[in-house]
Amino acid sequence: MHEFRELCREQRVIPVLSLNDDENSLQICRALVRGGLRLLEITLRTPTAWSVAERVKNEVPDSLVGIGTVLSTADMEKAVKLGFRFTVSPGMTPSLLACRKETGIDYLPGVATASEIMTARENGLNFLKFFPAEQNGGTARLKAYASPFSDVTFCPTGGINAENVRSYLSLPNVCCAGGTWVISREDVAAGRWNAITARAERCHTL
Ligand code: 3PG
Repeated sequence: MHEFRELCREQRVIPVLSLNDDENSLQICRALVRGGLRLLEITLRTPTAWSVAERVKNEVPDSLVGIGTVLSTADMEKAVKLGFRFTVSPGMTPSLLACRKETGIDYLPGVATASEIMTARENGLNFLKFFPAEQNGGTARLKAYASPFSDVTFCPTGGINAENVRSYLSLPNVCCAGGTWVISREDVAAGRWNAITARAERCHTL
């Protein structure tokens, strides 16, 4: 978990991707990795999410692919079995926490409240996804969590964009931020892979 957190801290921004199993998706991921964003969260939100995630893992050198929108232990077990690097959920359930303990896979569970943070800590996790960040009070809420939860680090996700990402990353209890804004739909539609790479490179300077 410690190593995973350090990888996230180094990368600063984790792209959250909903992909179809097609050539464009592979191009998007190659462009991101070229720009230094190796950790990629591929969400289980499309019918072909598993197959495209497998292809990215196998065909995009240096990518570190995680599975997002993990809602069940079946999904988490499948991610472990197929050798994905990490898992992410929008929330947290007792069965997912137990599955994480059994399998040992790196896991970012979603939390929003103080009680959820306490539950995660009781289960040995102190690197958490704050979701949905903007809708839950954004940076003000994260600041308020710093003192009671001094050992907890967050990856805020949800409503983050190029304009507000810096204000999150400047908080001492935030080590990275996640979101879909990293990829511009226009760039994808026009096949501007170099523009995606350039945007990825800018993430390191945040
Ligand atoms: C996620 O699952 O992390 C979010 O849906 C990403 O939210 P965003 O689209 O607001 O970046």
